[in-house]
Amino acid sequence: MKRDDKSYKGIGVFDSGIGGLTVVRALMERLPEENIVYFGDSARVPYGTKSPETVLRFARENLKFLKSRNIKLIVVACNTVSAVALPVLKAEEKLPVTGVLLPGALSASKTTESGKIAVIGTTATIHSGAYEEALHAINQDLEIFSQACPLFVSLAEEGWLNNDVTRLTARKYLEPVIEFGADTLVLGCTHYPLLREVISEVMGKGVELVDSANECAIEVEKILEKNNLRKMTGDTGEIRVFMSDVPYKFKEIGERFLGRSLGEVTKIQI
Ligand code: DGL
Repeated sequence: MKRDDKSYKGIGVFDSGIGGLTVVRALMERLPEENIVYFGDSARVPYGTKSPETVLRFARENLKFLKSRNIKLIVVACNTVSAVALPVLKAEEKLPVTGVLLPGALSASKTTESGKIAVIGTTATIHSGAYEEALHAINQDLEIFSQACPLFVSLAEEGWLNNDVTRLTARKYLEPVIEFGADTLVLGCTHYPLLREVISEVMGKGVELVDSANECAIEVEKILEKNNLRKMTGDTGEIRVFMSDVPYKFKEIGERFLGRSLGEVTKIQI
């Protein structure tokens, strides 16, 4: 089948800051030939403590920016936006839009053996009840416990991925989660995989940590295939990174996590 120029356009990805890079990494591993345009709204992070109306407004503005960068699909690499604004964004948008919440729920449902799943996320994500809804739509017998861990976002943005403050914060937040006794913990915020080491240490052996990144990349691949948008040339894709602010340690933390250079990071006004 002849593929048109659309296939060479990029995959637009956005998050409130650095967290969405956890999704970019999975996309680059699964779809290495694809070009990626990333936007991190560091000037307005965190989203997870804001009202759904404000999160929707920010998301619309981010989408508008990404669409000015020659993209063919939009990945909302933010659980908060996925939880409170995804249906509206999908309805408004002509390009395919996909989020991270359903992939996270799917991943957890495949992992659990006991049927007891805990979800951690931002205050907005947990308050929305969107994970419970998605998990119960998959299997209504699942037992779910949810816990907001808002400070994890600042710790990740600060690059405090594994130190005493992070460990103490994790112990405090995760105490009731441990008590609940889940065998699977959903990292329901794209920032949280950056703190995976500490979270895993605090949760202890026997609790599987799952995030949305890999399932999200599988979903993106399906959407590209279905819409005949997959870039078929063998050359490795490029990543372009735009931020509404470039925090001091952004490049260092971002590159450490991505395992490759972020290239030039362009600051833009949203
Ligand atoms: N990383 C985002 C999420 O997945 C948002 C974190 C925040 O800005 O509070 O929810």
